[in-house]
Amino acid sequence: MEQRSKQPITYRFPAGFWWGSATSATQIEGAANEGGKGKNIWDHWYEQEPHRFFQGVGPEVTSDFYHRYKEDIALMKEIGHNSFRFSISWSRLIPDGVGEVNSEAVRFYNAVIDELLANGIEPFVNLYHFDMPLVMQNIGGWENREVIDAYARYASLCFQLFGDRVKTWFTHNEPIVPVEGGYLYDFHYPNVVDFRRAVQVAYHTMIAHAKAVAAFRRAAIQGGKIGIILNLTPSYPRSQHPADVKAAHIADLLFNRSFLDPAVKGEYPQDLIELLAEHRFLPVMEVGDRELIKENTIDLLGINYYQPRRVKAKEHLPNPDAPFLPERFFDYYAMPGRKMNPYRGWEIYEKGIYDILINIKEKYGNIECFISENGMGVEGEERFRDESGMIHDDYRIEFIQEHLKWVHRAIEEGTNVKGYHIWTFMDNWSWTNAYKNRYGLVAVDLENGLKRTIKKSGYWFKSLAENNGF
Ligand code: BG6
Repeated sequence: MEQRSKQPITYRFPAGFWWGSATSATQIEGAANEGGKGKNIWDHWYEQEPHRFFQGVGPEVTSDFYHRYKEDIALMKEIGHNSFRFSISWSRLIPDGVGEVNSEAVRFYNAVIDELLANGIEPFVNLYHFDMPLVMQNIGGWENREVIDAYARYASLCFQLFGDRVKTWFTHNEPIVPVEGGYLYDFHYPNVVDFRRAVQVAYHTMIAHAKAVAAFRRAAIQGGKIGIILNLTPSYPRSQHPADVKAAHIADLLFNRSFLDPAVKGEYPQDLIELLAEHRFLPVMEVGDRELIKENTIDLLGINYYQPRRVKAKEHLPNPDAPFLPERFFDYYAMPGRKMNPYRGWEIYEKGIYDILINIKEKYGNIECFISENGMGVEGEERFRDESGMIHDDYRIEFIQEHLKWVHRAIEEGTNVKGYHIWTFMDNWSWTNAYKNRYGLVAVDLENGLKRTIKKSGYWFKSLAENNGF
């Protein structure tokens, strides 16, 4: 490969490595009430409880990608993207979740896909990023098997409509998050706190996933691959004391392996089944589910990594009157001396990305994978803007570099990593945090008509992609 920078390249990545970024429909499209889109849970919850959203900002406009996709895709090209992940909004494509396909949505997604391809950017399409159509949530969301079938039909329609050009597909992004947010910790609609329902939702999400994979196999997209995107948060015990190790093992089972094992191995971990059975929380299952999961494993795993989970054995008996939560089994642990992101309150532990990859190599058949999200959120990032308008985010460059060193090492040790996508392309709206934490390589100026300006990290990313290393 041609070397364009004067700097020597110490960390060179394999030829054809995917460099790009990830986004989601609700977070960038805006036009929430335009183009025939139906409401999803975010539109609804914001109408109900706007005060729950940072500075009262909802998802109506976000970054306005719906109207500015051409300008944005040109910027992606400019900063070196060869691939880009976005999600289709189910409620835009099928406003009531089950009925007619919205032709304006088909036009929009076709235009986005064509524009990406015309710019040499491979579209990676995710089918579900936290955005349940409201009509589907009103009949129970993932708790209702009818919704699973509606989702499988939606997936199948997407393969038919866009599969001639889109070759890389994902069923879900971070499926644990709607379980945590919606059914355990009250940060997504429908704001339920109920471990039993949470387990059922998690289980049904995987059934929906397997049905979408089955539909994908039937669609027989030439050269196509399907996967799932998981936020694999490595669980580290406070010490090697057996009680701490057990606490970390349970956290790993509940938060990582409840999705990772069925998706990659086609079966749930026996220890997880036993744990749930012991506490009488096994979900309701149907005949045929086990085979469905067994037969529909993935081709490609997307790994989102932000921070580790550090736990220790419980120090006090749980209050029997408190709601049953995963924290019944462990306490969180703030490791002394850990490095923190000063602008977002999350730990930064770069080696975590390597530990995940080695674990995938050793225990999950070295399945093809890529880093599908990694990034640094910064509150109040506007203060780093200079007179020319550029944001000097050297901390983000360092963050990416330090993680990439570990990815590089994992590749040298034989892991099957095909690419790195940063979260995210441009500053976007993020659920209840709205515009609080900025993650983009491109700034979006909320005070100035959503004007886009490439950050210092965007230019750095360009040289990273062009040199296939740094
Ligand atoms: C990721 C999600 O886990 O975290 C994104 O996939 C989200 O959708 C991102 O925007 C950042 O979250 P936050 O709360 O820092 O804005």
